[in-house]
Formats: sequence, structure tokens, C-alpha cells
Amino acid sequence: MKTIIRQGTRAPAALFSVFAALLFLAGCNSGESTEALPNTGGGSNTVSYSGPAPATDDVLNFKRSVWDELSGQNKCGACHNAGGQSPQFVHEGDINIAYAQANTIVNLSDPSQSEMVTKVAGGHNCWTTSVTACTDLLTVYISNWAGGSEGSVKTVELRAPNIQDVNNTLTFPSDADDFANTIYPVLTQYCSDCHTSNGQTPYIASSDVDIAYDQSKSRIDLNDGKDPVTDEWILTDEASSRLVERLRDDRHNCWDADCLDSATEMLAAIQAFIDRLGDPEPIPSNLVTSKALNLANDGLLANAGGRYEDNVIALYEFKAGEGPTAFDTSGISPPLDLTLSGNVGWVGGWGIDIGPAFETEEGDMIRAGKAQAPPLTAANCTPC
Ligand code: HEC
Ligand code: HEC
Repeated sequence: MKTIIRQGTRAPAALFSVFAALLFLAGCNSGESTEALPNTGGGSNTVSYSGPAPATDDVLNFKRSVWDELSGQNKCGACHNAGGQSPQFVHEGDINIAYAQANTIVNLSDPSQSEMVTKVAGGHNCWTTSVTACTDLLTVYISNWAGGSEGSVKTVELRAPNIQDVNNTLTFPSDADDFANTIYPVLTQYCSDCHTSNGQTPYIASSDVDIAYDQSKSRIDLNDGKDPVTDEWILTDEASSRLVERLRDDRHNCWDADCLDSATEMLAAIQAFIDRLGDPEPIPSNLVTSKALNLANDGLLANAGGRYEDNVIALYEFKAGEGPTAFDTSGISPPLDLTLSGNVGWVGGWGIDIGPAFETEEGDMIRAGKAQAPPLTAANCTPC
């Protein structure tokens, strides 16, 4: 059995477990007082400040929420410091200058749209391995400065995606000739014991090639073409023709000892078919199309709304999508990042998949999956 931890709408039970973990971590900070504790440190590379006093409460607030977090030499402080790159929003000599400069690159009424955030989102000097972790943290810091979060419920900000028009596209030819010369022979050779008319649906190996073609179309993805640069095809996890997936992922009636070999052969046949279709062409004007938006790139993960996030000391949203770390984006220092080890994989829509120990085909043992914060960091956790 695999356990899926994610904050997606598709796994309400698992959502609860993450949510419960949040509450638990928050509990250790709540105590009697209801006041949010100030951030007391910026993690490693903290710069100690000895310049003029903050001129106003808002400057002080800026210092605690943003400057303390970003002034380190391992972060923005390496460049946007006094005498460094403008804007000098982490000026170490005068907090009031830093404040004035920071004001030019933040949007306090909509923190995630601040230039400080969007600049880093565009690939500018993120200090972790995950750009989303950096942008989420920057948003938290700026929100803390704006001070709007007390007692408030996290809301989902809806934004219209950028509209993308449908480009030229490949279409299935109306007659079955190309199919008959490429994919069909593979299907009739290896799948006809079952998938012929009157046998098991889909009739992809029917003795009537038109039926076989008709039933195969929805199981062929015309995006599974050769790499346009290398003009080669290597079987990857991305090939998403169902005829290939059945072999590669489901190990469904492979004819080679290794299903990957069968999957590669199937893909090569699909490849040969796609090669015959010529160049992509404009969509016929009589067809009604929607825009070329897709869920992974343009979708909005509207699953974090309605949650109280005050006084959390650790928040894991599993947005990184790759790598060995699940970042703590609570904005509380030091961050309690989780290190993923053993049988842990990322799943789309923000989540990780923690599996049991298993043995690989090569005979290596993979330990049961674990997501753990280093004990050292936990011991340093000041608010606890
Ligand atoms: C290695 C040096 C370096 C680091 C580290 C660095 N920056 Fe920059 N930053 C620059 C340079 C150089 C520019 C000007 C060129 C450009 O716009 O890319 C700049 C420009 C910017 C701008 C655009 C300012 C404007 O007025 O157009 C923003 C916003 C910004 N940085 C934010 C940040 C943040 C936030 C951090 C920390 C996460 C950071 N930078 C870390 C070098 C750095
Ligand atoms: C021994 C009989 C048998 C053979 C041989 C066989 N299949 Fe199947 N196939 C089935 C059965 C039974 C089902 C329905 C149950 C299931 O989905 O596994 C099925 C379902 C399917 C489906 C539809 C279900 C889905 O998940 O998409 C596809 C596609 C498919 N097979 C592809 C193939 C291909 C490609 C081959 C040849 C490499 C093949 N099958 C060979 C028995 C067979």
C-alpha cells in the first residue's frame, strides 16, 4: 500500500493528515499568548544591524519581516547591499534607506505580485533549489510586513491565465493507409489473441483495419513524436500514447522479457506513423477549438483556501515537484525543511508519494520512504 500525502482536492483524507500535522506544529507555538512572535533570526549568514534606528514602526516591521530574512550574504544581501546593486533594499548601513528602496519593489496590497517576487520567479537568484519555495517565502515576508494576516483565513487569489492560441497541429488522416503500414502490424502480431472484433475491446487488432484504426486513434498521442532537435526517440516517461503506457507502465501482455523493449517497439511504430503525417497544419476553420491552456502550466491550484495559517511554525505545500527537499514556507526561521529519503516520489498537483521498502530488479533494497527535518534544525527552533 502506498500512502499519498498531498494537499490536493483529489485526496481529502490525506489532506486532513497534512492539515493535522500543521495544527500540531502550530500548537507548540500557541500557548496562552495570542500574539504572533516576531521572527528572531534570518537563519545562517545573519547580518547584525548597527545603523540608525528605524524611523517609524513600519520601518521596524519591515526590518523584522523582510530585512532580517534577506540581508544575509547567501541571499539578496550579496548584491543589493549598501554600495551594491540598486535597489538597495537590504542596505546594511541604514535600515531607513533599505526601507525606502524596498518600497519601490513591493506591492503591499497584493504581496505575491511584488516585483521582488516576480523578479525571483523569473529565475533571479533564488537561494534554495526550488524557485517556488523562494517566491512563496518572499510573499510570506512581504505579507508579514504588510501585517494583514492576523486572524485571517488564507484565501485563494484567482488570476486569469495568459491566453494562448492553438498553434498548428497534426491531425489523424481520414484513411487507414499510414496506420496499416506502421502501427497495425505490431498490433496484429502481438495483440490479436484478444483484441479482435468479437473479442476483448478495444478492437485495436481487428482483422478489419478500419475498425482497428478507429479504435486506436484515441490511444495514440500525436505529441509522441521524435525529439525535433536530435531526431531520435528514446523511450521516456513522457510518451503518453495509451498503447505505449499499457506496456511500459501496466506491463500488459508484453512480448519481450523486458516490457520496456516492447514499449520501445510500439513507440517506434507510432513514431513511424507520425513521421508520415508531414508538418503540423493550421486547424481547419470549421472546427471549434478552445484555447491551448493546460492544467499543469496554466491551472490554478485552488486548494489552500479557507485555512487559518496564523502562528504556524512550519508549512509544507510540496510545491517543489522535484529534488530531495520539501521546503518549509512558513517564513519562520530557521526553516524546518524536510529531507526526503527512501521510496518517496513527487506527484503532480503538489504532493509526495511515500511508499514502503522494496527491492529493485537489480536486487538493491530501497528503504521505506521518509520525510524528515534534521534534528539539529528542530533543536534550534527558537519559538518552541
Ligand atoms: C548576484 C547578485 C544578485 C543577487 C544575489 C540578487 N540580485 Fe537582484 N539584481 C541583481 C542585478 C545585477 C540586478 C539588475 C539587473 C537585472 O535587473 O537583472 C538586479 C535587479 C533586481 C530587481 C529589479 C530591480 C529594478 O528596479 O528593476 C529586483 C526586484 C531584484 N533584483 C530582487 C532581488 C531579490 C529579491 C534578491 C534575493 C532573493 C536578489 N535580487 C538577489 C543582482 C543580484
Ligand atoms: C491475453 C489477452 C490480451 C492480450 C494478448 C492483449 N490484451 Fe489488452 N486487454 C486485455 C483485457 C482482458 C483487457 C481489459 C482489462 C484490462 O484493462 O486489463 C485489455 C484492455 C486493453 C486496453 C484498454 C484498457 C486500457 O487500460 O487502456 C488496451 C489499450 C490494451 N488492452 C492494449 C493492448 C495491447 C497494445 C496489446 C498488445 C501488445 C494487448 N492489449 C494485448 C487482454 C489482452
